[in-house]
Order: sequence, then structure tokens, then C-alpha cells
Amino acid sequence: METLLARKVPSKAERYFSTGISMITSRGTKGPNVMAAEWVLQISYNPVLIAIFIHKGSQTLKNIEKTKEFGVNVASKEQTAQVSVAGGYSGFEIDKMGLKNIFKTLAPQKIKTPMISGCTINAECNLVRKEKLGDHVMLVGKVVHIKHDDTKSPLLYHSGRYFGLGSMVEPDRQEVSTDKDTLEFFRDLAQGRFVLKCAGVLVESKNNVLVTRWPKTKLETIPFTIPPTGKNQRAHLKKFILEIGLDIQIEKESTMKRLVLKNGKEIQRINFVIFKGKNNPTKSVTWKLKQDDVIANLA
Ligand SMILES: Cc1cc2nc3c(=O)[nH]c(=O)nc-3n(C[C@H](O)[C@H](O)[C@H](O)COP(=O)(O)O)c2cc1C
Repeated sequence: METLLARKVPSKAERYFSTGISMITSRGTKGPNVMAAEWVLQISYNPVLIAIFIHKGSQTLKNIEKTKEFGVNVASKEQTAQVSVAGGYSGFEIDKMGLKNIFKTLAPQKIKTPMISGCTINAECNLVRKEKLGDHVMLVGKVVHIKHDDTKSPLLYHSGRYFGLGSMVEPDRQEVSTDKDTLEFFRDLAQGRFVLKCAGVLVESKNNVLVTRWPKTKLETIPFTIPPTGKNQRAHLKKFILEIGLDIQIEKESTMKRLVLKNGKEIQRINFVIFKGKNNPTKSVTWKLKQDDVIANLA
């Protein structure tokens, strides 16, 4: 009784993560084995590395420590039976892969461990790192062969239950209908980027706002620039404002407008990080951009 009470039962919060499920294949002296694992994560693109977290009592860990290779077979939503068997029994208890009509295997290309058929992803891995972390061992595999099946949908795991993918959640963006020219203007700037990231300065004086008027379109915007990826946006905007000869202070606080511009079926996503600018009220502001007119519309 005491032992039961002393045992640490996972709290609800620990069970509340949402994950996919993989079937980890490995090879031992008694033949191939498979276990279910939700703690599986791609952790690098180049090279492609996958980390798996495996408990110390498993046959899978013993096998991988010996052979230095494993298969990551990401389960599809048709594979709940296979996952339940792979996760419900240890290879020490039964020969899971030898069960009739449960696992269909695929011949590996670069390793010797068989893979599982019917999965969304099959990644063959060579062990490159092993590290004990708490009660599990992290094994990092370098992917030496990978394939995916985009006709299959992944199996998801949450609160001890299996799920399929639901409907896609549209990001919460303000939709703005635009004319063709405006959309094209921003699409040109985006050069194929999924989201165009702009930093702009909002300068208000009395009831006026400082705007840039863009030739070839009917467009007026606050002065903005497209900071290079990874660079501090406020610093870049400051530099830009100086370059165009504006006498404006840029405040620290910023807001973000997340827009999706639409014209018919064409769209462009834009994020505007907007900083407040304070102009020098004693000076009248007029300036020119090299390529575009900027209208200083301040009182
Ligand atoms: C859905 C599911 C997810 C699991 N995720 C993990 C995991 O990420 N790491 C782990 O060590 N065990 C995990 N397990 C438990 C192992 O699959 C289980 O202990 C298995 O029997 C080990 O098999 P083996 O001894 O043949 O290697 C999971 C089980 C299930 C059902």
C-alpha cells in the first residue's frame, strides 16, 4: 500500500502536451523490435537530426546502444492498433514484429533495421549522440535516408488519447481587400516571402499623419522599411529615417498590425511593426525619398 502511494503518478499537466507518435524500430539479438514513442523531435535541418527519448528499461534502448542505428516511423492515423501493441508490450515480453497481421515492414535503404510500412515518414538514422536526461535517455540520430507519404495523415496524441488532424486554423489576421496594383506592389516587395515583415513609423500631429505616397499606385502608407532578417527592427528603421533626412525620434513602444491583403484569389500576408514617431514641432518637415515622393503632411 505504501509503495503504491509513494509512486509518482503523472499529474494531469504532464499528460497535457500534444504530440505525434512514432514507432521506433531497432535490431537485437532476437531480431527486430518496435516501440511507440511520442517524445520524438526533429532538431536540425542540416544535417537532419532527430532526437528520441527512450526509457531505461526498454529493449529498444539496449538494441540501439548496441547497433548504433534506429528507424523513426511516424505513425499515420490508420495505425492506432500498431502503436498500441508497440507501446503496450516490451520486446522482452513478446516478439511484437513477429505477430501476424500487425506490422508490415519495409526494407531499409541505408541501415539494417527494418522500417514500418503505412507511416507518414520513415527516417533511417545513425546514432550520433546519447545522453541521460532524468529518467529517459536522449538518443540523437543523423538521418541517412528519409521518405514521406503525403497521402497519409499523422496520428496525434493528447491526454492519453489518439486524434487525427482537425481543420486548419487560420491565423488571426485582419483581411484587407485591395486593388490589383496595391497587391502587386507588396508582392513585389515580398519576393515570394510567406509573410512580408515591415517596420513603419507613425507620426501624428494634430489630425494629420505623415504618409508616403507611392507612385504607380494610389497607395499611401506610413513611411516604412523592410529590415533584414535577424536585425533589430527599430534600429534599422532609425537608420532608414535618418537616410531619408527626417528629423524624427522613434519611441521604444511598438504595436503590430497583422494583415492579409486580398485581391480576388491573390493574397499577401504582411506584418507591420509600427513605432510611434515624434517630429520636431519647431521644424516643418519636407523631404524626398530617392525613388518615391514622401509627403510631409504635418501641421
Ligand atoms: C502512445 C505512446 C507513446 C509512448 N512514448 C514513449 C516515449 O516517448 N518514450 C519512451 O521511452 N516510451 C514511450 N512509450 C512506452 C514504450 O513504447 C513502451 O515502454 C514499450 O513497451 C517499450 O518497448 P521495448 O521494451 O520493446 O523497447 C509510449 C507508449 C505509448 C503507448
